[in-house]
Amino acid sequence: MSSPASFSPQSKHSLLSAEQLEEFSKNGYLLLEDNVSDVFRHALIDRAYRLIEQADLSATNRFSTTDRAQINNDFFLESAETVRCFFEEKAFDDGGELTQPRAQSINKTGHALHDLDDVFREFAKRPEFGELARELGLSVPHLYQTMVIFKQPRIGGEVTWHQDATFFYTEPSSVITYWFALEDATLENGCLWLEPGGHKGPLRERYFRDDLDLSMVALNDTPWPDESSGTPIPVKAGSLLVFHGHLPHYSALNRSDRSRLALTFHVVDGQHPYAAQNWLQCPTLGAFAL
Ligand code: FE2
Repeated sequence: MSSPASFSPQSKHSLLSAEQLEEFSKNGYLLLEDNVSDVFRHALIDRAYRLIEQADLSATNRFSTTDRAQINNDFFLESAETVRCFFEEKAFDDGGELTQPRAQSINKTGHALHDLDDVFREFAKRPEFGELARELGLSVPHLYQTMVIFKQPRIGGEVTWHQDATFFYTEPSSVITYWFALEDATLENGCLWLEPGGHKGPLRERYFRDDLDLSMVALNDTPWPDESSGTPIPVKAGSLLVFHGHLPHYSALNRSDRSRLALTFHVVDGQHPYAAQNWLQCPTLGAFAL
């Protein structure tokens, strides 16, 4: 892996150097260390846990990428324009009781934090996030989804290999992902794994919405990477990983005693039509311009 990139303090007019743009083009991702200040990071973490405290939780609302049948479609689809908390699939014992405290049982919260929550909105409005997207080729950056993924100790679930353009389809493809490490991400607590250069491959799947029905449709049978062909990307708290919508990525179960909170943004180019079949639709809130 090439050396981590950082925003250049010398440059007034561009955040990314020519080398960083070349690195993104070659590998499909960039690591920008020290992107989130400790003050913002702790504010975001505190707010995420406050959202869990305030949430009206039902045991039926779980999230899983290994078994999507566990997802309550109505609850999930409604989360596009509100803020919802989803339980880990392994949060409950056979008797239906939580095996860990409620705060340590949540898989993620989202998906309109940038619109509806003061702390997350203040963070999302940082001008450099729009500038970064524009420098990576998006003419009209629109933020469509924010979520905090908790990756809780011992039960933090695996996120299977996927490409984010599967879920945020535009023609042509334009989605990029901002993945902020709110805590250190390590091999032990489930850091991201990427396939450097894999963004040059085809989109393998598309997640379709038909009213309240959701389905995953295979588009291409290119094999997914695995832990022998992918690269783990351990990062320090405060780092930002930016990656291309076709870049395959994955994270393992968290079997450690430490959580691995991350905040993600999915940003698409508003100059291209946003597919009406994408699961996440914002008819009321509209697109959030970065
Ligand atoms: Fe993803």
